[in-house]
Amino acid sequence: MTEAAGRDAGPDLESQFEATIARDQRIEPRDWMPEGYRKTLVRQIAQHAHSEIIGMQPEGEWITKAPSLRRKAILFAKVQDEAGHGLYLYSAAETLGADRADLTERLLEGRQKYSSIFNYPTLSYADVGVIGWFVDGAAICNQVPLCRSSYGPYARAMVRICKEESFHQRQGYELLMTMMRGTEAQREMVQDAVNRWWWPSLMMFGPPDDDSPNSAQSMAWKIKRHSNDELRRRFVDMTVPQAAKLGVTLPDPELRWNEERGHHDFGTPDFSELKEVITGNGPCNAQRMDRRRTAHEEGAWVRAAASAHAAKQAARAREEAVA
Ligand SMILES: [Fe+2]
Ligand SMILES: [Fe+2]
Repeated sequence: MTEAAGRDAGPDLESQFEATIARDQRIEPRDWMPEGYRKTLVRQIAQHAHSEIIGMQPEGEWITKAPSLRRKAILFAKVQDEAGHGLYLYSAAETLGADRADLTERLLEGRQKYSSIFNYPTLSYADVGVIGWFVDGAAICNQVPLCRSSYGPYARAMVRICKEESFHQRQGYELLMTMMRGTEAQREMVQDAVNRWWWPSLMMFGPPDDDSPNSAQSMAWKIKRHSNDELRRRFVDMTVPQAAKLGVTLPDPELRWNEERGHHDFGTPDFSELKEVITGNGPCNAQRMDRRRTAHEEGAWVRAAASAHAAKQAARAREEAVA
């Protein structure tokens, strides 16, 4: 279609968009897209970016208290990776016309959310391992299908992020393996962390399918490829054998293999707790937002310096072009 035709032919653009989705091809920033599609993506990508940045906090607290130089270096690298994930994602949101400063403002004002999981406290070093194993593991289940998301810049950011998340998951599991080979007290620390993080990790997949109003449209647009319950089930199936190998018990009396279905049966997370955490009443919501706000204020000079530098570079480039 020529551009001139594209400008006046609304229905044609819509059907072209639908056809691109149906062919499993990517929508790119230059392509026409329905406003709802754009808005859904901005909301999802921003929420994802905020989660990466806020997600630095629970583990970041342990950097200065890591038990060895090796563990400190690993944790430092991991937390830094999460910052990088946030930045790729804010860039992906910018391709949809969103403004990064505005997204940050929305987070700080509580108008945009971040993942519920980061509102739980990290009480021991075993939590660092369990976060890597469960939280990065759940992130992988959620995000691997997003590598095939219909929006190009989001899908491409996900490819890179998923590679790093799988590294995070392995370092967490390796840390726990080491602790399980240690003293009785260390094994107890691991089991305690598993007990505290299991249910919140299952809640990371969101509310059950029959209570997830936006899911159907997101799946029709191929932004999302699998339902919340399906992803939750995958996570359980993936994690159960890993728990057995580690020698820990997952705190769910209903958890058992169902031969007929070829999946595990498992209990229902307390979704009223999820609602509470999402609405701001989790154990660490206030602390996480306070820290984020302070970091944003304390980083004002960095943003100002970076903008001044960019302006100077641009002015120099203009001068050179004239000369
Ligand atoms: Fe991440
Ligand atoms: Fe990660």
